[in-house]
Amino acid sequence: MSTRKPIVVGNWKLHNTISESLALVTELKNQLAAVRDVEVGVAPVFTALHPVAKRLEDTAIQVVGQNCHHEERGAFTGEVAPSLLADAGASYVIIGHSERRQHFGETDEGVARKARAALDAGLRVIVCVGETESERDAGETERRVGSQVDAALAQLTPDDVPGLVLAYEPVWAIGTGRTATPAQAQEVHSFLRGRLEGKLGSQAAGVRLQYGGSVKAENAEELLAQPDIDGALVGGASLKAEGFRAIVKAAQGDRA
Ligand code: PGA
Repeated sequence: MSTRKPIVVGNWKLHNTISESLALVTELKNQLAAVRDVEVGVAPVFTALHPVAKRLEDTAIQVVGQNCHHEERGAFTGEVAPSLLADAGASYVIIGHSERRQHFGETDEGVARKARAALDAGLRVIVCVGETESERDAGETERRVGSQVDAALAQLTPDDVPGLVLAYEPVWAIGTGRTATPAQAQEVHSFLRGRLEGKLGSQAAGVRLQYGGSVKAENAEELLAQPDIDGALVGGASLKAEGFRAIVKAAQGDRA
């Protein structure tokens, strides 16, 4: 059994006002504060990040940014620097989510720059990779996720490993209700582990690989039981405390 500590993060995307966010984390705080063998995080919208961090101050629940810029300061209207996320109370940031790549033109190179900047600012990073449906149908899954990982790693060194989480999120499974089967997900995770090994050597064994894409209470246990799946990045099912709690419990079960 792996010694990697599972990590389950709720990606709230563009949902929840400050008061809705506080209501949700207050429930999570009550239900999950005692969980120590799974790392748990929530990624609110930027405007709710600081109030959420304050509410979670005395818990082990991590606060996660959904995105950041690669520059620390300057004339970049509308952007948020990694150090400002840390200042607001975040300890992680999600980088290169497929919605950023699809709707906001993020490139592999941009993702790499952001990951570097975030690590330099003392944040840990969740770097997302994943193939589209047409890439999968064309048999190009490994080529696509392999090149995404290579691009991100080009800017990283083995010293960055403790701060690195990789999330495999097949684009066709995000928000669609279609989940990769545990075997499909494990196949890609095992490929990714090998790719990391090629770049980072034995350090690759310490990198946690999350699966994301329609994870919910009903499928979490089987996905998280796979040897190279070390957690989940959860969208829709993280918006309700009960559903999210069940996924964290499933990750905990994996440690039992
Ligand atoms: P989903 O989103 O769980 O709603 O599919 C996952 C994600 O985008 O991180």
